[in-house]
Formats: sequence, C-alpha cells, structure tokens
Amino acid sequence: MKKVFITGASSGIGKALALAYAKRGYSVGLTARREDILQDVAQACEKLGGIPFVYQLDVQDAEKCKSVADQFMADTGSIDIAIANAGIGGDDGLFSGDSNQINTILSTNILGVTNTLIPFIPAMKAQNSGALVCISSVASFMPLPFHGGYSSSKIAIRMIFDSWRPTLQKYMIKTVSICPGFVDTPIVKGPARRFPMKSAEDAAEQFLKVIDLGYSTYIYPWPYRILVLIVQLTPERFYNWLIKKMFGKPIT
Ligand SMILES: NC(=O)c1ccc[n+]([C@@H]2O[C@H](COP(=O)([O-])OP(=O)(O)OC[C@H]3O[C@@H](n4cnc5c(N)ncnc54)[C@H](OP(=O)(O)O)[C@@H]3O)[C@@H](O)[C@H]2O)c1
Repeated sequence: MKKVFITGASSGIGKALALAYAKRGYSVGLTARREDILQDVAQACEKLGGIPFVYQLDVQDAEKCKSVADQFMADTGSIDIAIANAGIGGDDGLFSGDSNQINTILSTNILGVTNTLIPFIPAMKAQNSGALVCISSVASFMPLPFHGGYSSSKIAIRMIFDSWRPTLQKYMIKTVSICPGFVDTPIVKGPARRFPMKSAEDAAEQFLKVIDLGYSTYIYPWPYRILVLIVQLTPERFYNWLIKKMFGKPIT
C-alpha cells in the first residue's frame, strides 16, 4: 500500500488531494491545525477506501513537523509522497507599521514547506524513491500589488525545488512544483473571486497525474501558461497599470 503525507488537509486543495489519494487506496497522513475538521476528512477518506492518519500540526513548528513525519513513517512503515500544501494568503500590511502580517505569510509558506519536507528526505534517499511536492502558485510568476509576501514565498519554494532537483534525481526522488491559478477554495477572497476558478476536486485529480509523471513545474490550468508567457513579455509599466485595474483599489 502506498503512503502520502499532506499538510493543509483540512480544506481546499489539500483536502481534495487527500480524498483523491484515498480513492486510490493510499495510506494518507492528514495534517493541519484544525484537528476536528481533519477527523471529518479522515472519515471521508476511510469511506473511499483509504487508510487515514490524523496529526495536528502547525507547519511553522519545525520540531513538531519532524516528530509528526517520523510518527507517520513509524505508523505506515515508509513514505512515497510528501506534499507541502499548507499555505496562507493575505496582503503585506504595507502601511501597518507592523511586519508581523508579511512575516507570517513568509514563514508559513516558505519555512512551512522546508519544515514539512526535509524530515522525509533521508528515508526517501535510503529507499531510493519518493516524491516531494510543493504547491507554489501562478502568483510566483507575477508580482501582485500588496501581496509581495505571498508572491515571493511562492517563488522561493519553486526555486528551492529547482535547486534540489538535480541532486535528488540521483536518488530517484521527484520534486514537483505545482503552480495553480485560481482554484475555488477559502483562500481566494475579495475581487479575486470574480475570476474563473477550477474546482479543488478537478485540480486534485490533475495534480495526482502530474505527480505520478514526475513533472518539474506544472502550471494549472493550461490558459495560465499563456498568461505567464504574456506577463513575462509585457513591459513593466503596462503590467503595473493593468494589474491595478484588475485588482481594484490598493489596500491602505
Ligand atoms: N486556491 C487557489 O486559488 C490557490 C492558487 C495558487 C496556490 N494555492 C496554494 O494552494 C495551497 C492550498 O491552499 P487552498 O487554496 O486549498 O486554501 P485553503 O482552503 O485556505 O487551505 C489552506 C490549508 O492550509 C492549512 N494551513 C494554513 N496555515 C497552516 C499552518 N500554519 N500550519 C498547518 N496548516 C496550515 C489550513 O488548515 P488549518 O487552518 O486547519 O491549519 C488549510 O488546510 C496553499 O499553499 C495556497 O497558497 C492556492
């Protein structure tokens, strides 16, 4: 039986990934801060044919991440796929005079990923197989006003994976950066909800395929690949004008 470990499994993409793997009969490590909700996800996983293991976890806590990873491998015997999905959105608090807001985004979305994945690497290296997955974002290809923390956190984890990839390939460990555009989950708030969104279930089904195939960087859904290309070719001044129009008034 295969084993997958998922952070942020209480909601949205993480929950959809958990259910999709459960449907395929995996042992599924479910982690998040809200344990009560995880218990509901665990029940749904069981009904679909998976074997759930629930662990309460804040990904900002490096020690706890290590002990939960060790516990999951002790509970199931090994690890096949570790998915660092937990993440938060939000603006930078640019005019707040307080760096807490942006720092919490950076810490959750960057250190949360390294805290989650590093503990699994020795076991994957020893067994000469495995897959590490991070959920980056299309926002890692385009600066969004007042969301520098979010965009840069998603660039950082993609870059970390790009750096790890050649080394980990030697041990048959895949490193898959998934970059979604808008997916209909609670993280998408305000004017962003005007944009077309894929469902978390559709997204998860597609992500399972690309993880299996061992893609390096995967932008989803496909029209965002064209958008990313256009953004990369667009002069900065025009891009700034356009993005302000699209995302409305700046946050004060
Ligand atoms: N939805 C989109 O349009 C979209 C687009 C691009 C990228 N993404 C990325 O996809 C990932 C999943 O987001 P989502 O859309 O599914 O949003 P979501 O429904 O809000 O889910 C976020 C998950 O992360 C968990 N989480 C947040 N902070 C945590 C912490 N400190 N420790 C442990 N778990 C934590 C939450 O659980 P608890 O609150 O229970 O801890 C929740 O399960 C994120 O990394 C996000 O940046 C989403």
